[in-house]
Amino acid sequence: MLTGGNAWWRNAVVYQVYVRSFCDSNGAGTGDIAGVRSKLDYLRRLGVDALWFNPWYPSPMADSGYDVSDYRSIDPSFGTLADAELLISEANAVGIRTIVDIVPNHVSAEHSWFRAALGSAPGSAERARFWFRPGSGPSGDLPPNGWQSLFGGPAWTRTKNSDGSSGEWYLHLFAPEQPDLNWTHPDVWREHEDVLRFWFDRGVAGFRIDSAALLVKDPGLAEERTGRLPGEHPFTDRDSVHDVYRQWRQLADSYPEPRVLIGEVWLPDASRLARYLRPDELHTVFNFPFLSCPWDGPALRTSIDATLGSHELVGAPATWVLSNHDVTRVVTRYGRADTSFSFESRRAGLDTDLQLGTRRARAAALLTMALPGSMYIYQGEELGLPEVDDIPDDRRQDPMFFRSGHLNPGRDGCRVPLPWSGEEPPYGFSPPGASRRPWLDQPRGWGPLTAAAESANPDSMLTLYRQGLELRKAEAGLAGEALVWVPAAPKVLAFSRGKTFACAVNLGTQATSLPIGAEVLLASDPIEGGQLAPDTAVWLRTSDGV
Ligand code: GLC
Repeated sequence: MLTGGNAWWRNAVVYQVYVRSFCDSNGAGTGDIAGVRSKLDYLRRLGVDALWFNPWYPSPMADSGYDVSDYRSIDPSFGTLADAELLISEANAVGIRTIVDIVPNHVSAEHSWFRAALGSAPGSAERARFWFRPGSGPSGDLPPNGWQSLFGGPAWTRTKNSDGSSGEWYLHLFAPEQPDLNWTHPDVWREHEDVLRFWFDRGVAGFRIDSAALLVKDPGLAEERTGRLPGEHPFTDRDSVHDVYRQWRQLADSYPEPRVLIGEVWLPDASRLARYLRPDELHTVFNFPFLSCPWDGPALRTSIDATLGSHELVGAPATWVLSNHDVTRVVTRYGRADTSFSFESRRAGLDTDLQLGTRRARAAALLTMALPGSMYIYQGEELGLPEVDDIPDDRRQDPMFFRSGHLNPGRDGCRVPLPWSGEEPPYGFSPPGASRRPWLDQPRGWGPLTAAAESANPDSMLTLYRQGLELRKAEAGLAGEALVWVPAAPKVLAFSRGKTFACAVNLGTQATSLPIGAEVLLASDPIEGGQLAPDTAVWLRTSDGV
């Protein structure tokens, strides 16, 4: 039974399923929808309200599914449309909603539109749906402008004409296999509305919108340069992108149970970010400033305040995110000298203290669960999986790795298949006697991190997540939207939610005393002698605040 009414998304717990690495039901070495269906009970028991699926559409997998060749079907390695429909209804039956991913900035180079464009002449209607341009320089040998792909290297690739001569260039802000769509073209608008409707009609509760701030480009293709005013960047956060979301919102609101729009918007400026959350646009956006924030008391407090302040102005709930399929696993990041996240600083082989990282990740989990708004859990976060840092180069898949000249290890290390049971790879990810090894190898030594082992261990990360999420639902204070900071020792974050609930997190190096008389509801590590140890979080029942 679905609960929460039309505003369920305001404080939902959303679990991100990276299908390819979740559970392989048929031994083919990749996760699939039948595998997810077989684990619905695990997800129900974890206590999540919704599942967000990374793209599950047919794709050549040049960017692990973010290169979509058909938005109305399912990649054969994941199953069929019928499997997806079954999953949506079975999940609904156990109280879990389904959110799917839409990738509106680009399509796969194998998408019928792009194939038609390549097969048509310069200036044709088929090419007008993309960004085809002649090259610059005397013989057109140079890209039309200097834009760089977000994966590294130029954002333009030159085509070949049918006679083998060099042709026009096309724009791709990501990999060459992901040509950018032209959002001034009415076909592009119509097609996306139709795709949204297609999945809404199949019962999905909402969409996660990929690269949501990038859709609109400067038609003059002005160069990137520093010092531009907000909204003037040639391809990020241009004002008219909001027209797209206003239209999508009308469609989402036209359903009896209104559907939800969640934006992947990487913007450092909180006020620009909040514009996507105006009442007639998106419902929520991912909180990347919080995700990127170092494990540092003042920095986290500033990030929480900036988030709550900017969201309140537009009446939108905050989201709290510690990780996803694009970033370093939390226990690894928090065990490093630099605990912040950025794509640019990503390197393989940095020293990590996993014990320290895990301790902090446990504290961060309770902090996140206690903040007002909705929260996201990326599969494996609840098991405390570390980043797999030593994937051999010839097994890596991520275009970020290849396009950075192997400098940036890319995102494969956080996408390794989940361990479910047993002591040896594939740890129950694939069934016994599987014909293929998992698409990315799992390391040795993950036996204690399997879902089965952690289920049986009262001190595991999984047990902490289960207990935390259960209490999060039960505590009246956590249902409201107000957070009040309470005075605490330096380097301790302490706040109350409602009259009788408080959370304290010690980010310092000294233990600190808990208020006398407060009852401990849950702690990320044992509380001894009324002391909150470093890198520990606690939830308290208080008589009146802390
Ligand atoms: C988003 C996705 C990422 C993908 C990119 C291009 O950032 O999260 O995985 O590579 O968009 O679609």
